[in-house]
Amino acid sequence: MENPTMLASGIMGETGGSLLAMAKGGAGALVTKSIGSVPRQGHKNPTLVELEYGYLNAMGLPNPGIEAFAEEMREASKAGIPIVGSIFGSSAEEFASLARRMQEYGAEAVELNLSCPHAKGYGMEMGVDPEVVANIIREVKAAVVVPVFAKLTPNTHRLIDVAKAAEDAGVDAIVAINTLKAMRIDVDARMPVLSNRYGGLSGPAVRGVGVRCVYELFEALKIPVIGVGGIEDWRSALEYMMAGAVAVQIGSGVGRVGTQVFGDVCSGISAYMAENGFRDITQLVGVAHD
Ligand code: DHB
Repeated sequence: MENPTMLASGIMGETGGSLLAMAKGGAGALVTKSIGSVPRQGHKNPTLVELEYGYLNAMGLPNPGIEAFAEEMREASKAGIPIVGSIFGSSAEEFASLARRMQEYGAEAVELNLSCPHAKGYGMEMGVDPEVVANIIREVKAAVVVPVFAKLTPNTHRLIDVAKAAEDAGVDAIVAINTLKAMRIDVDARMPVLSNRYGGLSGPAVRGVGVRCVYELFEALKIPVIGVGGIEDWRSALEYMMAGAVAVQIGSGVGRVGTQVFGDVCSGISAYMAENGFRDITQLVGVAHD
């Protein structure tokens, strides 16, 4: 990667065209929307609520299915930067077969969505159990040669157990965090705002949780950690890197700040490095630890 910023999964990652636009904004790598075996419509609206401090969403894992996604990957590859294929499944076999397809499509890594906070039978339901996670990772690692990332949920007291099980099973990196399970109620309608009732909270509201998770993961693991959650400027990106992240992902920040967020974060970090006498970004990774 030419810089440590990546587009996070879930936003602007459904089509080749939207992925290309994120590359233009300066991202160093692009993570696709999570793709499953068959096309899914997702939930009916409302699926997204904008809050003062982030977003609350329950899209319902809408995606065109792995077959149709070949075309989007072909288009996205014109960006000339690494594409990470995010996938979700309900079994280790399904994850492995999706990973194989993403590798065939030219993905330079796969990211396993083990952390969607509200989809029945997917995501967090599997991602809070260390044994289930280890089993999925073993199957995927046996199926592909590209690096495998596990995107984990903060909605558990077992994050470190899950991450260690993932590491022992051979995962190449941990991505932390996915959204926090959350809810909003419309007091006039006297009902939940989201059609799915529960959703995932993202944006600056979750940054303190994300930074804490990355800090703890850095202390517990040997493999790299990629930080995500509420990053929208160079300071918040550096917070994650100083906690121990080797790279950062930006999702909600694209919606809140604009597609230029990647380039802006990178120039801010470069200026900080010049002012403080750092020549290599890796010198800053984990510096907040004693
Ligand atoms: C969805 C998936 C996620 O992984 C998440 O954190 C939030 C929402 C979804 O598609 O609904």
